[in-house]
Amino acid sequence: MKYIGGKFRLRKWICGILNKYRKPNQTFVDMFVGGASIVREMTGSRIANDIDRDLIAFYRGLQRGWIPPSDLTKDDYYRQYQRWCGGESDALIGFMKFFCGMFGGAWGGFAISNGTSNGPICRPIYYSQANDSLKLAEQLTGVYLHSVDYRDVFAQLDSPCLVYCDPPYADMYNSYNISFDSELFWKFVREQSHKHTIIVSEESAPKDFKSISMEIIDPRINARRTGKADIRVEHLYILKGKEI
Ligand SMILES: C[S@@+](CC[C@H](N)C(=O)[O-])C[C@H]1O[C@@H](n2cnc3c(N)ncnc32)[C@H](O)[C@@H]1O
Repeated sequence: MKYIGGKFRLRKWICGILNKYRKPNQTFVDMFVGGASIVREMTGSRIANDIDRDLIAFYRGLQRGWIPPSDLTKDDYYRQYQRWCGGESDALIGFMKFFCGMFGGAWGGFAISNGTSNGPICRPIYYSQANDSLKLAEQLTGVYLHSVDYRDVFAQLDSPCLVYCDPPYADMYNSYNISFDSELFWKFVREQSHKHTIIVSEESAPKDFKSISMEIIDPRINARRTGKADIRVEHLYILKGKEI
């Protein structure tokens, strides 16, 4: 599924590292699950959390067998938006809010892929998202879902877990409409690392964290923006002394 800030393209690399750190039968926690790219690739005992209740309502719906529509109109989209404005939350709202918008992020604007915005016309974007939802539903079987602040999840974890954190980036425009205190986050990770194995996706980290990094070449960005090789470095961080 396409989700802003999603780790879909890096999922094999990230899950490879997570599995290296995972102890036998250890519970895996995806603390900021977003588009679920990571948790869906992991197996065994799993917990997924995201503060966004609509997103979690969508995943809960999939677990119950709810099937997202693949044929949508602009009216459908804005009807759900109105319900959401009125304080409602369910699987359909979560699906529309995050996976049917044009610009990504929450309520990114109704996506028109065939030049018209009215009428019951099947649009490929919803087809592909809805199709992937069926596979996702299967992959989320047995995952415990929560929708609370990450600190409340840590407070509920009894035994030492493997925790993956992909929080909103400290220096980026926050498209999740949620304020996020990165300094507090790192303080929390530092404290909780004495009990849990915590791996964080971020662009930078405090000096007492070690980076396991990877260079990525993105051919699409190259061609459009600079015409040159565009190399980004993706980091996974772990508290120094905890690395293997
Ligand atoms: C970068 S996205 C995660 C992307 C995800 N790893 C993926 O591959 O799609 C960050 C997520 O953190 C969630 N979030 C923001 N603040 C949070 C908090 N305090 N506790 C839990 N989740 C939070 C947002 O709703 C958003 O979905």
